[in-house]
Amino acid sequence: MADAIKYFELNTGAKIPSVGLGTFQSPPGVVGQAAETAIKVGYRHIDCAQVYGNEKEIGEVLKKLFEDGVVKRDDLFITSKLWCTDHAPEDVPVAFNKTLDDLQLDYIDLYLIHWPVRMKNAVDSFKPENLIPADIPSTWQAMEKLYDSGKARAIGVSNFSTKKLGDLLEIARVPPAVNQVECHPTCQRTELKELCKSRGVHLSGYSPLGSPGFVLLKGDEVLKQPVVISVAEKLGKTPAQVCLRWGIQMGHSVLPKSTHESRIKENFDIFDWSIPDDLFTKFSEIEQASLFRVTPFAKILSEILDGEF
Ligand code: A2P
Repeated sequence: MADAIKYFELNTGAKIPSVGLGTFQSPPGVVGQAAETAIKVGYRHIDCAQVYGNEKEIGEVLKKLFEDGVVKRDDLFITSKLWCTDHAPEDVPVAFNKTLDDLQLDYIDLYLIHWPVRMKNAVDSFKPENLIPADIPSTWQAMEKLYDSGKARAIGVSNFSTKKLGDLLEIARVPPAVNQVECHPTCQRTELKELCKSRGVHLSGYSPLGSPGFVLLKGDEVLKQPVVISVAEKLGKTPAQVCLRWGIQMGHSVLPKSTHESRIKENFDIFDWSIPDDLFTKFSEIEQASLFRVTPFAKILSEILDGEF
């Protein structure tokens, strides 16, 4: 019988469900239905962010599902993220409270600094001249206050390189519980994972399917990788299921995004089987994606992220 791997334990003692629904690029009008479907299918983890512009709709759905008795608040794990325009310590609780209001929740299970990148304003978001140097220690202190308040039950980071995570671990009073980064078979993050493992930081993998079609990320062809396809054929599973099962067997949670019921179900059907050792080892042979980035902004980001983006 396969080890189901339904949860991982965080350094706070809380359990993070191993599969969460990603909501990046799930537009308003669609995201609510996706979240409702996922929760009814059995997902207990929804990965949100203020910048995705859809937290209000997710909040409406959560309220309805709580009222209808479909799920209890305490059985869900809700993640959200602080956007790059809100790094100033005085802005951190304001942004956090907006997310709480939008999601109609009293607490967030996990609140992350979305990027180690600071922006002047939201209007010019992705213009290089909109970037200003981040001051992670001061932002982190404001995050620690949210943790102390009990309203953010765990705090962490996203898109932090090995170096930036190491620097944060040096100064943090409350160590980050999670680093959420792009992670899939062609972007395995071996060095970062080693650091996370040795310091008790859970790695959570976004774009676990390589975000097919989304050119900023590294994994355009993940679902077409020969290793992935041959393992899927041998096990009678889909390439997506194999990528997700690989992720949880590697020890990181996965956050597949879908707005289609059939795929939401497919992506959650990974608990009663496993990838046997002889096939699992083949994933280490997969060539890792290069750091090539297509837009000038992405190139600048890559530099800020120590070449790990
Ligand atoms: P859709 O929302 O139409 O289902 P990632 O989670 O790596 O960012 O990938 C998200 C992308 O992958 C979305 O475009 C999503 O499309 C698609 N996707 C989600 N689940 C599957 C699946 N099981 N098989 C193929 N594509 C999928």
